[in-house]
Parts: sequence; structure tokens; C-alpha cells
Amino acid sequence: MSNKTYYITTPIYYPSGKLHIGNTYTTVFCDALRRYKDLRGYDTYYLTGMDEHGKKIETVAEEREMSPHDHVDEMAAETKALWDRLKISYDDFIRTTEKRHKTVVQKIFEKLLDQGDIYLGTYKGYYCMPCESFFTESQLGENNTCPDCGRETSQLEEESYFLKLSKYADRLLDFIEENPGFITPESRKNEVVSFLKQGLNDLSVSRTTFDWGIKVVSNPKHVVYVWIDALSNYLSALGYGTNDDALYQKYWHGDEVVHVVGKDILRFHAIYWPIMLMALDIPVNFKLHAHGFYMMKEGKMSKSKGGVIYPDTIINHYGLDELRYFLLRELPYGADGVFTPESFIERINFDLANDFGNLLNRTISMVNKYFEGTIEFDPNVTNDFDDSLESLIAETKDNYRESMETLKVSEAIRAVWKLISRTNKYIDETTPWILAKDENKKADLQNVMYHLVESLRHIGIMLTPILLDASHSLFNQLGIPESLQTWDSLQFGLLKETEVVKKPSPLFPRLDSDKEVDKLQSILRGEDKETQKPVDEDNLATIDDFNKLDMRIAKVVSAKYHPNADKLLVLQVDAGEAKPRQIVAGIAKHYSPESIEGKNVVVVVNLEPVKLRGEESNGMLLAGSNKKSLKLLTVEGLNPGDSVS
Ligand code: MSP
Repeated sequence: MSNKTYYITTPIYYPSGKLHIGNTYTTVFCDALRRYKDLRGYDTYYLTGMDEHGKKIETVAEEREMSPHDHVDEMAAETKALWDRLKISYDDFIRTTEKRHKTVVQKIFEKLLDQGDIYLGTYKGYYCMPCESFFTESQLGENNTCPDCGRETSQLEEESYFLKLSKYADRLLDFIEENPGFITPESRKNEVVSFLKQGLNDLSVSRTTFDWGIKVVSNPKHVVYVWIDALSNYLSALGYGTNDDALYQKYWHGDEVVHVVGKDILRFHAIYWPIMLMALDIPVNFKLHAHGFYMMKEGKMSKSKGGVIYPDTIINHYGLDELRYFLLRELPYGADGVFTPESFIERINFDLANDFGNLLNRTISMVNKYFEGTIEFDPNVTNDFDDSLESLIAETKDNYRESMETLKVSEAIRAVWKLISRTNKYIDETTPWILAKDENKKADLQNVMYHLVESLRHIGIMLTPILLDASHSLFNQLGIPESLQTWDSLQFGLLKETEVVKKPSPLFPRLDSDKEVDKLQSILRGEDKETQKPVDEDNLATIDDFNKLDMRIAKVVSAKYHPNADKLLVLQVDAGEAKPRQIVAGIAKHYSPESIEGKNVVVVVNLEPVKLRGEESNGMLLAGSNKKSLKLLTVEGLNPGDSVS
């Protein structure tokens, strides 16, 4: 029996500038939903990509003195690298400049032209370049300004093809009425309905005033207007209209199709897109979700207003889970949210470090202290507080599921945090430190520990789509087997026994609030010294200094924990010499001995030997690091002893 299918898409981004946390929100949001559906056992497919055509991109490329091709290639590579950093689990990244996309758009255009849904006419209007939008005179603001952004528009009259929106308006209205979940939130649906009720003008769908676009095959002086081009990506990426349309058949005609967009592009997706599909005789079987915007205290997130925050800045300083958590938790369903340094740091300190991280820490410490790290389930022992904790565990699963299914990710997270608070309260109620004083209460104490671990296991499962590293670490630290990390194992009592790690590693270190708020504020003002990292010009190394170092590839032959220091590993490495060389490295917090054995690392072998806590070290490993993580430099395809320069 095959699993239900789930196809989820982000809008495709304009390569007009670096993506800030506002635009990355949609991608993280879809990633969380996709991971949730994976957890539920769906056959999922996640599409994202880039919307690379249009006058605006042509202009940005010109300003950079680059060809549009080179510009979009560079932006696409940057964006993919960003998604990799954010561990976005996408399956495909479609670019509208790709041949596979162009062919489909041209086919769609010609088909609509042949059947009379597209016709040639004259376009008279006002164009706002930054918004890529045309307006009629009656839509303009004061002094003919753009009604959306307030900037100046320019007047245009040109030959253009038009899509007959008017022909489909009533059919679309009926469709919306008959399919209540088609557009969410409800308020957005109402916006669309009232817009439709005012009547639709036919949509201009081609341009002759610029080149950077997909040519209309039957009349190549026209390029296809960017929205028809862009929206088609949801089909072209699946191979629609080609010989290889298996993905299209499977996912578009499958069980669930979800488009997630920001509220600013609601109309395109709620009106033009279903009408295009109706005209093409393709089922309109998607659900559309339009979320609000992340704003800054001062208003819109915009580089020119000085209020932009980039995802890599947050990851460098605080970590990926911290960013994901904030983004997914802070934007309320259906409304706008605000990024402030204070709210960001508070969420880390209160929600992540205090409530969640501390619960895991305390639990592991107590299990070690009272039971030498091992506990088991004894259903015959109970206390007065078990029932209420157990029923909240069950209730949380239902609330979480319902919220995730209706795309209320922030509410799903809130439900999990309610369970976290309840579990913390359970510790206060059951007072394990008092039970521990009485030998006869051993079984009661174990029952309390068991409830804490079991509750945390449930919390970990529900957080897997949200906090990628922390949920993983939670399972490892609690010794939860993979079979009990699944959705189906969300049932109290399935864990029979476990052995937790000897020493907990904090999931989220508590931050110095004042210092970090200041730091974020200076990042926002563009004054952050740490990210600028100036080179110390007064203290430059000469080539001779550099050449003095003998750096080589070395294979880690064996590794063990240092007997007297928990931050150190003692390694034997083969650096191409007669016998292995011992190196002591401060990497035990980041690598276990097993995980490093067999790796080809880079070592400096001509350092003076030193004794570290009684163990001699004859060299140094090279690694990259920031505040949160450390990664050894490893090299594939070379042999021990090969030189590094
Ligand atoms: N290229 C079009 C989409 C075509 S889809 C067929 C586009 N691109 S965009 O790069 O301008 O925007 C991409 C997404 O980012 C949109 O969903 C937009 O709503 C979203 N956001 C841009 N700024 C945002 C915030 N400040 N907050 C949340 N989302 C924001 O539109």
C-alpha cells in the first residue's frame, strides 16, 4: 500500500538581493511542515526555487555590471547555499531560466492562445518597477504613485497579450465557496472574495519593452509577463506537459498540494493561478496558505530603512535551532510579527534555555544521581500527579497534530511548551529531592524519573520538525532508540527502560541578555565588529612564517577520552611516519572517539611537544569553529603524510 502524497511549495524568490529573515520565513515554515508530514509517514515532495526573469532583475544585473545570466547564476548558488545552511529539506530547486521550465511556459502560453483564452490587445497603464506591477489610473495613489509601495510609477502604452480572467471569475467564486479550506486564513479568503466580487479586468500577460524573459513562440517580440512565467513553476518542476511527467501525475494528482505564500502575493495565487489551471483543464486541487509578514519595530524589513536581519548572522551568533524556533514561534497565525532583539533573546533564554533545556538537564542529572543513569517503567507505581501529566501528554499530541494540519505551526509549538511547563511543574509537585532521602521511596522516585523521561521523549518527537539539532541531541542524551522516536510511538509507557548519558550537554546555553541585545542592536545598525572581523594589518605573517609550519594529512588510527580531562581526546594519528604520533585535542565536546576514528585530518606536526594533563601531545589538529560548533578540517582522496600548504 502506498503512502499518501504531500506536495508543498514556497514561492520562488526574486534574485534581486540577499534574502533576509522575512523571506526565509516561508522556506523554514514549509520545511517544518514537510518534516512533520514525513513524521506522519506521508510521501512528501518539497519544491522551492527562484523567479529569475523580469525588468527588475535585468536592471539589478546592469547595476552590478553583470549579464543577467551571470547575476542569476550567482544568486541561485547563494540561495542554495543558504538553504543548505538552514538544513532545508527541499527536493527540487527550480529556476525559471532553466530549459525544463521555459519549454513548459511556452507550451502553456501557446495552448491558451490557441484556445482563445489569451488574445492580443493594447495595454495602457502605469508600471511600478520595484513591485513589478501594472496599475490602471484609478488604482494609483496621489501623484500617480504606486498604491502598494508609494513610489513613482511610469506611464506605458504597448501591445500586449491578455488572459481572459473575466471569463472565469464566476467559476472561481463558486469554487471558493464550495471549497472552504481552499484559502487560509479565513480573513485572506474574504479579501479574495471581495476583490473578485468587484469584477476582474483581463490580465496583461506579455511585454515588449524588455528582453529578459521567456519569448512567446508565435510572436517573439513579446516576452511572457513574469507572473504567468513564475506561477507555472509549480507544474514545470514536476515535468507537466513533458514525456516524463511521473512526478506531476503522482504529486499534482495526489492527496495534498499546499502552496505557502506571503500575504503580498495572495492575489496572484488565489486568482490568476486557479484561473490558469481552469483554462488548462488541470484540477485546482491545491490549498493556499498566506502568512503575515515579519516586521521590524520601525516598520517594514528593508535595507534602505536600516532594519534588516539576515539568517546567517543569527546562525553565526546563536545557532540554527534558535533561528528556526524564533521564526516559527513568533509569527502569529494570520497576522504580522515583529523581530526585536529583545524578543529574540528572551525566546532563547526563557523558552529554550530555561524551560526546555533545563528540564532535560535536570532530568538527566537526577537520573544519574539517584539511579546511576538507568531507569525502567513500573506501571504499578503511581502518584497523585501522574494522571494529569499523562493526560496532557495525550492531549498535546492531538492539539499539536491539529495545529500542524491546519498550518498553525506557532500554535503547535505553543502546545508543546505547555507540556514542557507542565513537566517542570511535575518536578515541583513530586519533589524528587525529598523522595530521595527516604530509602522506602525508591520506587516512587523512579516513577517520577520515568515520567520525566517519557514526557521528554514525547516533546522530542513533536519537536523534530522544528528543532533539528536539539531534538536529535535529546534522543541521544536520553538513550531513546530510533523505534521510539516515531509518530506512532507517541503513546505513554512505550519506553520500557533506558540509560541516559553520564553528563548532560546543555541544549541551549543561557545568554547574557543585556550584552546580546546590545550586540543585535549594533548588528542592525551595521556596526557589529565581530561580523566584520578586520584583519590585523599591524601584525602580518611573512611567507617564511607560514612555511615554517609542517602541515600534513593524517589518518586518525585510534582515539580515546583523556583520563583526567573531559574536554580532551587523546588520538594516535598516522602522519606518514614510521610509527603513529600522539596528539591531544580539545574536541571531546564535539566529537566522540568513535566518530573521529578513520578520518583524514590536517595536522601540524612540527610543534614543540606539550604535556596536557599528563598526556604528551605532539602536534595540533586544524579545525574551523564558532561559538557553537567546531568542525575538523578533513580531506578526502589524499594519503597520510601528504603535505598541506
Ligand atoms: N517571485 C515572487 C513569487 C513568485 S511565486 C510563483 C516573489 N518573490 S519575493 O522574493 O519578493 O518574495 C518571496 C516571499 O517572501 C513572498 O512569499 C513574500 O511574501 C515573502 N516575504 C518577503 N518579505 C517578508 C517578510 N518581511 N516577512 C515574511 N515574508 C516575507 O514575491
